Formats: sequence, C-alpha cells, structure tokens
Amino acid sequence: MNAQTDIGRIDIKGAEVTFKAPGGGRVEALAATDLVIDPGSFVSLIGPSGCGKSTMLNAVGGFVPLTSGVIELDGDPVKGINPDVGVVFQQYALFPWFTALGNVMFALKRFKISKQERLERAYAALKEVGLEGRERTYPGQLSGGMRQRVALARVFVTSPKVLLMDEPFGALDAQTRVAMHEILLRIWEAHRTTVLFVTHDVDEALILSDCAHIMSVGPGQIIETMDVKQERPRHVDNIGPDFLEARNHIIRLLRQPGGKDH
Ligand SMILES: Nc1ncnc2c1ncn2[C@@H]1O[C@H](COP(=O)(O)OP(=O)(O)OP(=O)(O)O)[C@@H](O)[C@H]1O
Ligand SMILES: [Mg+2]
Repeated sequence: MNAQTDIGRIDIKGAEVTFKAPGGGRVEALAATDLVIDPGSFVSLIGPSGCGKSTMLNAVGGFVPLTSGVIELDGDPVKGINPDVGVVFQQYALFPWFTALGNVMFALKRFKISKQERLERAYAALKEVGLEGRERTYPGQLSGGMRQRVALARVFVTSPKVLLMDEPFGALDAQTRVAMHEILLRIWEAHRTTVLFVTHDVDEALILSDCAHIMSVGPGQIIETMDVKQERPRHVDNIGPDFLEARNHIIRLLRQPGGKDH
C-alpha cells in the first residue's frame, strides 16, 4: 500500500498512558501498546466508547504525554506537537471570523512563501475538496459537510506526513458521510499521507482503511488487526463476502465484554 512513499511511518513502542482521575487515583487509558503504521497507509482504530482511541491519537500527535514507552515518527521520538502532523476532529475547529479561504491560508502562515503563493495553494486546496466558488464564504454560512471539507483542505494544503482524524464525520448524516469518504479517499490517494482514523463505525473503518485495529474496553488495548483487501472504491451496498465476514467478526468482537469472538 505504501509503495509511493516512505515518509510518515509511525512506530508505537510500549506506549502507555495513565491519567490522574478527577477524584484521586489513576485511570489507565492506554495499556502498553506496540504498533507499526506503514508510511502512506490508511489505518483505522475502532472500539467502544472510553477504550482509549482518542488517547492513542493524542499521544501520536504529541498532545498527551506517555507514561511509559515511546512513539516515533520516521524514527524521531514524538516530544510534543509536531507541525508535520495534521489533525481533523469532529468539532469544526475553523476560525469563524475567517472565510473558507482565510482558514486555509492561515494554515500556510508558518511557511516562508509569498502571499500570492499562499493564495494560489489555498484556492487549489479548496478546489480539491469541491468548494470552488465558496472561497469567500464564512464557516457559519456553510453546512457541516462543507465545514469538514474546509478542515480537510486546511490540513492537506500543508502536506503533513501524518493525518490524525478523530471521528471526523461523526456529526454528519449518512449521505454526507459517504460523500466525505469519497473526497477523503481521493485526496489521500493523491497525497499518500499516512492516515490514522478513529471511528465507532465498523462500516466506515472497512470502507476507508487498508487495515483496522480493534480495541477492547479500557484499559485500551488492540485485540485484533484486520487487513481489508477488497479493492477500492468500496460501498456498503456493493460489498464482497470477505468484507461481510470482516464486518460481522468485528461486530461480534466489539459485543464481547473481554473482546473475544465466540
Ligand atoms: N484528560 C484526561 N484526564 C483523565 N482521564 C481521561 C482524560 N482523557 C481521557 N481520560 C479517560 O481515559 C479513558 C480513555 O478515553 P478516550 O477519550 O481515549 O476514549 P475513546 O475511546 O476516545 O472514547 P470515545 O469513543 O467516547 O471518544 C477514559 O476512561 C477517559 O475517561
Ligand atoms: Mg474519543
């Protein structure tokens, strides 16, 4: 899957995260985890609420420190927030006082390029997500799906090595989600950024990913990894027997308290 790139490898080595619980004591959010994510691959994390999916994503992004272990990005330990790592979360974290164009241009501020080039790149990124003609619209005037498209343009315009997505389409209706999947896959195929995608939705994980890691109820642990071999594009109404079997297997796994498929 990663023949086109060797940038964006994530090595999670014995990574463990423990938080202080509000009433005293400690919460183990992520049990010691080892995981290698190939450069350029699209990988999903799926699991029940509270199992540590966001914690793992936040640890990779350097937003949450590890209690033990190490996470490396292309061999360098993650020590804090890294500009080579892009994020798209469920909330639309757009600046409401900037237009769509302004939001995308803002992401390019740290690059030493002319205003003209920033403008051109931002226009191209908005075109890539199908928002041509909406450049001067404010987030408050856009639909939820359109706002997430701006968020995608804003993140891809900087060509990050890794893209972390935490239930980015969780608030969208089913039809808009399908459209977002198509846009995301098209852009991912063009850029080959490594994507780590968190979802509750088994179908979403299988439609998008090269590989899905299934986590158990906390303390978060990966209990199974499933490669998705079916060719893209994949649609829920046009799935092969392998896909169906994988889906049923994951659903059974998620139903079991200990994560065992009986
Ligand atoms: N900052 C924090 N301080 C204390 N405990 C936390 C903190 N962040 C997360 N936790 C706890 O860590 C565990 C894992 O939380 P996390 O948010 O990673 O789960 P999740 O799998 O993303 O859940 P969801 O699917 O509901 O988003 C939970 O028990 C949660 O209460
Ligand atoms: Mg979460």
